[in-house]
Amino acid sequence: INRIAILTSGSDAPGMNACIRAVVRGALYHGIEVMGIRRGYGGLIRGDIFSMTSHSVSNIIQRGGTILKSAHCPEFMTVEGRQKAYEQLMNHGIDALIVIGGNGTFEGALHFYEEFGVPIMGIPGTIDNDLFGTDYTIGYDTAVNTALKAIDRIRDTADSHERIFLIEVMGRDSGYIAVQSGIAGGAEMVVISEDPLSTQELVDTLKQGFNRSKSSSIIIVAEGETKGTAATLADQIRKQVDDKFDMRVTALGHVQRGGTPSAYDRILASRLGLGALEGLLDGTINVMVGIINNQLVYTPLREAIDRSKPIKNELLRMVNILSV
Ligand code: F6P
Repeated sequence: INRIAILTSGSDAPGMNACIRAVVRGALYHGIEVMGIRRGYGGLIRGDIFSMTSHSVSNIIQRGGTILKSAHCPEFMTVEGRQKAYEQLMNHGIDALIVIGGNGTFEGALHFYEEFGVPIMGIPGTIDNDLFGTDYTIGYDTAVNTALKAIDRIRDTADSHERIFLIEVMGRDSGYIAVQSGIAGGAEMVVISEDPLSTQELVDTLKQGFNRSKSSSIIIVAEGETKGTAATLADQIRKQVDDKFDMRVTALGHVQRGGTPSAYDRILASRLGLGALEGLLDGTINVMVGIINNQLVYTPLREAIDRSKPIKNELLRMVNILSV
C-alpha cells in the first residue's frame, strides 16, 4: 500500500477530527500518502479528493464535527454509484480506503469490498454506540456528557417548580445514551426500547415517588423508544393522571452531536485511527477496528453491522434501584 484515502460518512460525531488526524499522521509516519475525500461517499463518486499533509490536520483535535464534511449517500447504495467510486479510486491511484462512520457507512463499505476488492478498514464513529466489535464508538462519551449537562440544568428548574420532565435523547434505535446519561444524571426512570415500560408502569412509578414525597422527577426517553417520542409519551401519561402532575418535555436533539470532544473520545479516536492504519498496513482488511477491554480488535464488517451489542442488565437494574 502506497496511498490510502480517508472519508467520514453518515452522521458526524465529536472526535472524528481527532481520528482523521491520527490516520493522517500515522500514515505519514509510515511513509504512506494520504488523500482526503470530502462529503463521504458522494465526494468519492464525484472525485472530491485532495492530498493531505501533516498541516492539514493541525489544530483540529479539539474540534467537534468533521473537517472532511459528511453526508448520507443513496447513490453509493447502488452498483452504478459504487462503480463510479471505484473508477475515482483507480484514477487517483488509491490502494486502500479508511471509512469513519456507523452502520450505513459499513454496509456500503462491505458491498464495495465484495464487488471491487478494495481493501477497506472501518472505524466506528457515531454517538449512538450501537456497533458490535467495540465497547465504545467515537462521539458517544461526548454526547453522553453533553446530555448530562443538560439534564443537570433541567433538574434545577424541575426541582424549583416541582415538575416532571421527560427528556428525549438521541441514539437512533439504541438506548445507550439514555441509560448512561440517565444513570449519571440520577434519573427516576429511563425509557428505552430494549427494556420497554408500559405507560401504566410509568404512571405507577411516578405516583409511588410522589407518595414518598418526591416533588420532581426526571424521565429520560430514548428517541428510539417504541411508544413514540417523549412528547407523545407525556400525552399518554397526562391522560392517566389528569392534572395531578405538572409535566414538561425537552428534546435535546442535535446539541448532542456537536461540541468539543471529551478527553476519552480524543484518546479513543487517536487509538482507533492509528490502529486502523497499522491494521491495513499489516494486511487486515474488510474489518472494523474497535477496542474491547482496552485491547485493539478487528471485527469483520458483516459482524459489526449484524450483531447487536445489548445493554447490560446490570445497568438497567441499577437505574431502578438507585432512583428510589
Ligand atoms: O446516528 C446519529 C444520530 O444523531 C441519531 O442519534 C439520530 O437518530 C440521527 O443521527 C439523526 O440524524 P439526522 O442528523 O440526519 O437528523
